[in-house]
Amino acid sequence: MPPTDHAAWRALTEHRHELDGLHLRELFDRDPKRFERFHAFVGDVLVDFSKHRITDTTHRLLSELAEQAQVPAVREAMFKGEPINRTEERAVLHTALRHRGDAPVLEGKRNVMPEVREVLARMRAFADDVRAGRRRGRSGDAFTDVVNVGIGGSDLGPKMVTTALTPYHHQRLRFHFVSNVDPSDLQQVLEVVRPDTTLFLVASKTFTTQETMMNARSARAWFVERTGDQAAVGQHFAAISTNTEAVASFGVPPEATFGFWDWVGGRFSLWGAVGLSIMLAIGPERFDELLDGAYEADLHFRQAPVPENVPVILGMLGVWYHNFWGAATHAILPYDHNLSRFAAYFQQADMESNGKHVDRSGDPVAVDTGPIVWGEPGTNGQHAFFQLLHQGTRLVPCDFLAAARSHAPVGEHHEVLLSNFFAQTEALMRGRTAEEARAALLEHDASLSPERLSLLTAATSFEGNRPTTSFLYPLLTPRVLGTLIALFEHKIFVQGVIWEINSFDQMGVELGKALAADVLRDLRDGEPVTGHDASTNGLINAYKRMRRE
Ligand code: F6P
Repeated sequence: MPPTDHAAWRALTEHRHELDGLHLRELFDRDPKRFERFHAFVGDVLVDFSKHRITDTTHRLLSELAEQAQVPAVREAMFKGEPINRTEERAVLHTALRHRGDAPVLEGKRNVMPEVREVLARMRAFADDVRAGRRRGRSGDAFTDVVNVGIGGSDLGPKMVTTALTPYHHQRLRFHFVSNVDPSDLQQVLEVVRPDTTLFLVASKTFTTQETMMNARSARAWFVERTGDQAAVGQHFAAISTNTEAVASFGVPPEATFGFWDWVGGRFSLWGAVGLSIMLAIGPERFDELLDGAYEADLHFRQAPVPENVPVILGMLGVWYHNFWGAATHAILPYDHNLSRFAAYFQQADMESNGKHVDRSGDPVAVDTGPIVWGEPGTNGQHAFFQLLHQGTRLVPCDFLAAARSHAPVGEHHEVLLSNFFAQTEALMRGRTAEEARAALLEHDASLSPERLSLLTAATSFEGNRPTTSFLYPLLTPRVLGTLIALFEHKIFVQGVIWEINSFDQMGVELGKALAADVLRDLRDGEPVTGHDASTNGLINAYKRMRRE
């Protein structure tokens, strides 16, 4: 059933008009208890959703829409391992990778937990050995550098979490991530590592991805050329993949191969073998804490009633803005520098999941689907794109994230950071009226001419009424990070259910890959090309000329 057919959707359409002209400032002035009613905790993470264009009626109708669209039933189907990824006929069970309970997790009739725990145990043993210096390089020296070679979900998750948990890193080990097929990416890493003390992790679910395989082969060639020791490849390369045959033919021995399963989507895979670089960085115990935090969010998502269910609330707020208020984008703004890759990670997780044009039956979708997700850490963003957030003509709902305590306490830095975090969400919500702007201008310079006063009043007024969600947590620990990531993951799931789409395939990435293969054939010979459109022919021929000259 298209989402627009639900009674709650129709009611929300009406209700949306009732909110025209209502300002968030007014909602706060009317109700001093608004924060009390519109915030929640999941574990240690406080989620404040009071700075949204919602009333109790909105909250009730959004909850009803979630119920009518069967969010609880589809959620159960996911946790129970039903093949909800219909195009690929697969279950969606990344939650099994962080399942901490004793109950079995079934894919069809099979309990997947023994295999999940077996891989985790092998990862632990491997990570412990590398960290303790028991597993060493060819010359007998302990490893000093770990290079993860992967792209998309096999890069963004490990890179985001490894960066986020820098304060927990093993002292001896440095971490590098090579993803781009652009040779500069690999080259810049190879320039700073030594072959004898470098461990490469080749991460690829399929082990066929062009960029990863090319980087992995070039890294292997570099290693063999520098060491003259082909036999040591197995000692310096580990692999993470569902395709164990391809891994073996690459030259990685079984004991350094870590598998996973087709029911783990690449963009949800950091919780298992793809997280090996994370485990090497922070150690198995801390990795367990990351899983614990995610499991806590999973339990909340599975058990909390819809109106109090944080991922459901977050998902429904997204639907509210994207489908009822015309917001096309969503910004993720961590006031936590260690989360500098958080927005990039969720850009893939969200846009690859919900950037879909047909519904679960293959019919064109009835409403707009996934938002454009973007963001940068604060306070940097304030000096770049916040102008548009505050005074632009487009509505951009934002997520703000911050820790109460810093891992790097230096002077008053953290208080200053947090003062900006609180001030920005308040400013976006309140804005500044023309009267307030005029008063501020006159206080500064009482002699302003009427023309200038009017010009500057217009320029320094802020409409406000800009919605934000704040996430506040005590400290960015592995556990807190696990909770945060799982909350955002489930939010994406909820939106996919409302939009009636399959959030777990990514067919849209294929066309470009197929065309690139054709173009590569054209680039290999020196002849002018004529087989494409005029623009592509012109560009390729100019490229060939530039290379010759
Ligand atoms: O092309 C997109 C994609 O398939 C992503 O979904 C995936 O995370 C990435 O490529 C890498 O795939 P793999 O892990 O198989 O190398």
